[in-house]
Amino acid sequence: MSSEPTKLPIAAKETKSGHVHTCHSRFEPGPAVVLERSPLVPNLQLLKVQAPAVAAKIQPGQFIMIRTDEDGERIPLTVADWNRDEGWVSCVFMEVGTTTYKLGKLEAGDELATFVGPLGKALEIENWGTVICAGGCYGIACIYPIARALKEKGNRVISLVEGRSSFLLYWIERLESVSDQVLISTKDRSIGGTGYCQGMATEVFERESVQRVIAEGCTFMMYQMAEATRPLGIHTVVSLNPVMIDGTGMCGACRVLVGGETKFACVDGPDFDAHKVDWDLLLSRRQAYLGPETESSEK
Ligand code: FES
Repeated sequence: MSSEPTKLPIAAKETKSGHVHTCHSRFEPGPAVVLERSPLVPNLQLLKVQAPAVAAKIQPGQFIMIRTDEDGERIPLTVADWNRDEGWVSCVFMEVGTTTYKLGKLEAGDELATFVGPLGKALEIENWGTVICAGGCYGIACIYPIARALKEKGNRVISLVEGRSSFLLYWIERLESVSDQVLISTKDRSIGGTGYCQGMATEVFERESVQRVIAEGCTFMMYQMAEATRPLGIHTVVSLNPVMIDGTGMCGACRVLVGGETKFACVDGPDFDAHKVDWDLLLSRRQAYLGPETESSEK
């Protein structure tokens, strides 16, 4: 968590309507163009956007803000992959509310009202030795660029992937291409055991020394990883992207207590020392938005 959030412009691109959009500053969001939107697994979709300026600067752990239309809300999505030469950035999202439902209807050539990034601080990547990258749900995609960067730094990378069933898993081959080992757990045992990332990590800890753990996924999974490594004193980093709403530091929704200090996930993070996060507070606040989001989706 070393670098400051990058102030940046976004892509210039000719759209389906023939307009050419020029660069926009971080706080003057404008349209970008969808290259691909496709289902990955039944509950997750891939969104690939032409955004050369973002692609040129994005680092593992950072996120972008998306708004589908002028009347829509902005939502933060952690970046899953990018290609600096081809100028695209991709994200994985779950359709859980109104905005992600709209995202799920986009087609190649559609314009996004807002596509701003890179936002947040880049994840610290060093040669730590052996590093576990744990991912569940959309977090499977999020750990891919992290594992890739760690591997490029010379780490031994062990990627852990969890899901309810094998048909909900994806990007396993991609993870294998940047990991020394990929371990899988599914609730129904269709692949691997049922230990989830926490159980798989515990098995790894019994057989070898691990210097760092990075976890991305739902808050409960990240909490479990924090508790699995706490007694062993293994430095563990979690991405608090799931608690963010507007990603600008203004709504206050991502306020968390870390080491007794108030932090904002979108400005001070999204990555934090998992052993310093006040998980009781965080997990209780996660429930607070369930009712309003369900109401919005029904409308
Ligand atoms: Fe609103 Fe961070 S997401 S303040």
